[in-house]
Amino acid sequence: MSGLFSNNKRIVSGMRASGRLHLGHYHGVIKNWLSLQHHYDCFFFVADWHGLTTCYDEPGKIKSSLWDMVVDWLACGINPSLSKIFIQSWVPEHAEMHLLLSMITPLGWLERVPTYKDQQEKLHDKDLSTYGFLGYPLLQSADVLLYNADLVPVGEDQVAHIELIREVARRFNYIYGREPNFESLAADAIKKMGKKNGQLYTELRKQFQQEGYLEAVKTAEALLSNQPNLSIGDKERLLGYLEGSGKIILSEPHPLLTEMSKMPGIDGQKMSKSYNNTISLREEPAAVEKKILTMPTDPARVKRTDPGSPDKCPVWQLHKVYSDKTTQDWVVQGCTSAGIGCIDCKRPIVDAINKELQPIQENIITFEEDISSVKKIVMEGSEAAREEANKTLNVVRDVMGLDY
Ligand code: TRP
Ligand code: SF4
Repeated sequence: MSGLFSNNKRIVSGMRASGRLHLGHYHGVIKNWLSLQHHYDCFFFVADWHGLTTCYDEPGKIKSSLWDMVVDWLACGINPSLSKIFIQSWVPEHAEMHLLLSMITPLGWLERVPTYKDQQEKLHDKDLSTYGFLGYPLLQSADVLLYNADLVPVGEDQVAHIELIREVARRFNYIYGREPNFESLAADAIKKMGKKNGQLYTELRKQFQQEGYLEAVKTAEALLSNQPNLSIGDKERLLGYLEGSGKIILSEPHPLLTEMSKMPGIDGQKMSKSYNNTISLREEPAAVEKKILTMPTDPARVKRTDPGSPDKCPVWQLHKVYSDKTTQDWVVQGCTSAGIGCIDCKRPIVDAINKELQPIQENIITFEEDISSVKKIVMEGSEAAREEANKTLNVVRDVMGLDY
């Protein structure tokens, strides 16, 4: 069954392999994935081709961090029996889908994606005037549309990408979803539903088209997915007929805005490898302690007796992530009255991080000792992803006239 009418909502999310995971990834992305995998059918993949769009001149870079990253995912609890875990390039369907979508994507759409110019300016020491770099949001579109994802977890900065994905899907449906005999095929399909359901569908269509009643689309979608007599093609047709478009072949995903926990690095800026301020998931307890204890604090606290303000201190940002109300009150009270020293204040953070990392690090050791089973998980995940991808791609090839 295509994602469009599968029982559970689908999520697709990819991550570049750019070194080992750190606490910024853990709090910003992985913890979110962990909860999503219980509620949705999730497709999590290593976006290795995406990595090449900016690191094409460093072959081997991806390879050196890819398995560490997958091990880290698994050690954090990303569960292969709940989610499909795979590598983008092991599902070559992503490349074919990208190519086919490129045929209908106006250049201007890609040039106007805000991250295009931004990234080029930010990474100005790299020549990013390449075809691959311009096309990278379209590759992302292929990643998502291939699985008919309902939702894509993103931060604020990637919402424009989802908008592009939606436009590409609409354009695709507009161009290829118009069958010459669409109306009569739709009428035939309604008959196949039986009298009662057929009438209900017709009523819902009227509600949506004449009164713009959005709930009707949802109800109709549920109704259609429960029709054993309808083929997937008929279901797509009737959904499109209801919405007044052609057949819906590719479904438009929605952004799932995740409140990016603002995980500060050990210098108070956002934690990121490029700022060299990270704590890796594999950091040894002693190294965690050293990094936290040498963190800068409110510059007003020159001497132990100088009071400070947590709002001017990066350590406070960490308390917001790790500490309960009691500890936070203790910090505010102790800092502003010079009742505690900065070292005292940092202790609970050191303990909290090490406590958080301990079970993850134990899992990392277990998976590293059996790396062949990790590879097997990814092989099976990629197989399963290919199977889903091909369902969509077969339809896409077909409607584009490639069915010889
Ligand atoms: N765009 C993300 C990045 O550059 C990775 C990514 C690739 C992705 N394809 C995706 C994320 C599809 C979500 C869905 O890091
Ligand atoms: Fe920062 Fe804590 Fe020191 Fe205050 S006491 S400046 S919050 S480290």
